[in-house]
Amino acid sequence: MQKIGVITSGGDAPGMNAAVRAVVRAALGRGCEVVGFIHGYQGIIDNEFLPLDSRAVGGIITTGGTMLRTARSKPFMTAEGRSKAIENLKKLGVDGLVVIGGDGSLTGALRLHEEFDFPVMGVPGSIDNDISGTDFSIGFDTAVNTAVEAIDRVRDTAYSHERVFVIEVMGRRNGFIAVEAGLATGAEAVLIPEIPYSLLEICDSLRVAAERGKRSSIIVVAEGAARASDIQEFITKNTPYEARYLVLGHMQRGGSPTAFDRVLALRLGAHAANRLLSGFRGEMVGVDGNHLVSHPLSYVLSSERVIDPEKLLLCEVMAR
Ligand code: F6P
Repeated sequence: MQKIGVITSGGDAPGMNAAVRAVVRAALGRGCEVVGFIHGYQGIIDNEFLPLDSRAVGGIITTGGTMLRTARSKPFMTAEGRSKAIENLKKLGVDGLVVIGGDGSLTGALRLHEEFDFPVMGVPGSIDNDISGTDFSIGFDTAVNTAVEAIDRVRDTAYSHERVFVIEVMGRRNGFIAVEAGLATGAEAVLIPEIPYSLLEICDSLRVAAERGKRSSIIVVAEGAARASDIQEFITKNTPYEARYLVLGHMQRGGSPTAFDRVLALRLGAHAANRLLSGFRGEMVGVDGNHLVSHPLSYVLSSERVIDPEKLLLCEVMAR
């Protein structure tokens, strides 16, 4: 391959820049040029790109967001949009594409692979950590640490005022961030979309905890499980506690990546470029334990990543 493209797509995640840097420098090291398309798949359709040399990706390992910008491109979801993208890639002499993003972005990559036999390599980048075939996706560790820092601060004021705080973290379809942040902050309850819960039971356990001398509590809720404001209202009506709520929202997606995310992004980005240049295609790279792995995108996108049941049990036991 003489030239490959790289995009970041879907929700941004801290560490995406480090991954772009790794793709570029690993490819350049093997004598291959790299172009970065702006706004993900939309940039391929619109022919919006920049050549990426080593200097172009200097100084970005520390930064959050994505220098290539990102988007969830509606036109790319159509057959016409994808044909246009392939036409543009071919005109530019781009022989392969590294896609850094979550499940929607990886689905786009699989389409290019299956419909046009175009060489693609996926890199898991999403704060949600809900992608199969890897223990971690880029950005999860930073998002969890951001949530933990915020929850720790709220715990101080919850303690001082003897209140219940309901804190909503991101995760539309799953509770990976909620479970990790809940465990790390000693939350009294963690509500996630995967597990049914009863608000009346939560109120009961808050009352029992109060009888045992606990005067403040933290409830972490994933956005896909319920709205924090609804839970706060329910608790205020059904317990003697004064409750407050906080939605952490997009602050979890921003900020400088943790060392863990930077190193993960560098390893995954370089592995993706190396595999693409070695002739592999239609895969997503990942980590299994401390080992770099890769799996067919078709497998990654057809299997569901589930939360470790041992962690769910720990949430319950530790809340006592
Ligand atoms: O997939 C990443 C994510 O941050 C989810 O956790 C969240 O539900 C969603 O993106 C928010 O998307 P948007 O930025 O489009 O509001």
